[in-house]
Amino acid sequence: MAMTRQQAWDLLTQYNKETFHLRHAITVEHVMGWYADQLGYGADKEFWSVVGLLHDLDFEQWPEEHCKKSQELMRQAGVEESIVRATASHGWGICVDIKPEHEMEKALFASDELTGLIGAAALMRPSKSVADMELKSLKKKFKDKKFAAGCSREVISDGAALLGWELDKLLDMTLKAMQGEEDAIEEAVRSI
Ligand SMILES: [Fe+2]
Repeated sequence: MAMTRQQAWDLLTQYNKETFHLRHAITVEHVMGWYADQLGYGADKEFWSVVGLLHDLDFEQWPEEHCKKSQELMRQAGVEESIVRATASHGWGICVDIKPEHEMEKALFASDELTGLIGAAALMRPSKSVADMELKSLKKKFKDKKFAAGCSREVISDGAALLGWELDKLLDMTLKAMQGEEDAIEEAVRSI
């Protein structure tokens, strides 16, 4: 049986307490939901969103076992294998050897680090918002390797290649996703 958002949230908050991590989970949840609609997978939107919500399940408590411990935690909780696999595949080439195959897995791999970069860029703006951010300024932040150095440009570029997209398309789409979802993300973060 498919996992509901509420079940995923309960599992997430069992192992994640810090707002920083919960905000990231919620952000990727919404970006993945946006991508599901955008890429023609609207019928599977909740599945895409749940994968986004749970993708870093183990990171707050077990950063050294990232994408490995999460598989154990999910199986223990009876989470379906497609979610276990999809979430773990975002650590491909970094902490696990599970390659993103499904378009959903590729979208997760490509957008995860990028949402961090876009979020950091938003905080630099007077508005503290993505609403008035232009692709041009995001491209500049992407090229400035010293800015949000923890967000791997290599992973983002590899993600675009997995999707078969130019880097600019990935930046543009993910920026649009975060703009479209910003209000919903902020509302969800407020109700943590
Ligand atoms: Fe993440």
